[in-house]
Amino acid sequence: MATIGILTGGGDCPGLNPVIRAVVRKAYNEGYEVLGIKNGWKGLIEKDTQKLDLKAISGILPKGGTILGTSRTNPYKKEEDLVKIKQNFKELGIDALIAVGGEDTLGAASKLIKEGITNIVGVPKTIDNDLSATDYTFGFDTAINTATECIDRLHTTAESHHRIMVVEVMGRHAGWIATEAGIAGGADVILIPEIPIDIDEVCKIIKSRHARGKTFSIIVVAEGAQFKDKSLVLQEEKLDAFGHVRLGGIGDALGQEIEKRTGYETRVSVLGHIQRGGTPTAFDRVLGTRFGVKAVELVKNRQFGKMVALSGGKIIAVPLESAVASLKTVDMELYNIAKEFFG
Ligand code: F6P
Repeated sequence: MATIGILTGGGDCPGLNPVIRAVVRKAYNEGYEVLGIKNGWKGLIEKDTQKLDLKAISGILPKGGTILGTSRTNPYKKEEDLVKIKQNFKELGIDALIAVGGEDTLGAASKLIKEGITNIVGVPKTIDNDLSATDYTFGFDTAINTATECIDRLHTTAESHHRIMVVEVMGRHAGWIATEAGIAGGADVILIPEIPIDIDEVCKIIKSRHARGKTFSIIVVAEGAQFKDKSLVLQEEKLDAFGHVRLGGIGDALGQEIEKRTGYETRVSVLGHIQRGGTPTAFDRVLGTRFGVKAVELVKNRQFGKMVALSGGKIIAVPLESAVASLKTVDMELYNIAKEFFG
């Protein structure tokens, strides 16, 4: 019986367990065995695996995170790790690998294919929704629903205390979470990495809002947003294994500037990993399930080097490379809709 390996890499994300469950169910229906690789590429380096039978996936559909564990291990960081990955792929008897991850995990998968580990299929995952070649990644819907609920909660305090509330959300270098949660939560200003922050403009919007009788404002800022005026940035840069800057801190910097310039009491809430955790929404469970089933179909049809994707409501296969070729930034048509409600 042929064996399909599956790993989940990068940040955890609601919807990973529905993918794992779907892969295992479809694989068993098609006569494959499934080997779970623990903690992303790290598990392939260390030969840390777990057999995934129907019992192992029972009850995991509504659970956030990943039963396989994850890590940000970069297989290309150390030469010896790469050698081990290639060797262990063979020794573990993996006939095909389903790599579930974002830009980094899929980028590494794409490189491995070029180096001869060809039997790989990708599944796009990230709460950031910043992968090109797919309309949506699972996890994003759960993240924006959580962030929207948080904004709703912050609204009540902002209103009662007549404060400005700055809400910092994740999203890395794309402002999808900020834009969609901001629209859904009725934010008065939304600041995203795609457009440098003009602090004078932000304060003008807040002041004009207050001039028409409002006594509170909600500002949603994406963690990757930056001031137009570079002298206002105060970030100490820490890098992860893939060389990405660990973001965070813009909310505090923004809150301080707003309070200083407007005189209104300003408080900051950083949602952080709260928006990445918890049970997946129905949308993410369905998307993850569709992706998982399709990934096994690709393996069965030997369509390696592909990634499953959502395009106009249909699940399709796209070249794995296209998924990581460019960052999918916020659609300005959508952002302009959000702007209609600023102030
Ligand atoms: O890519 C998902 C994400 O949650 C980003 O929005 C965020 O910048 C990053 O991961 C945080 O990563 P970590 O949990 O490793 O700090």
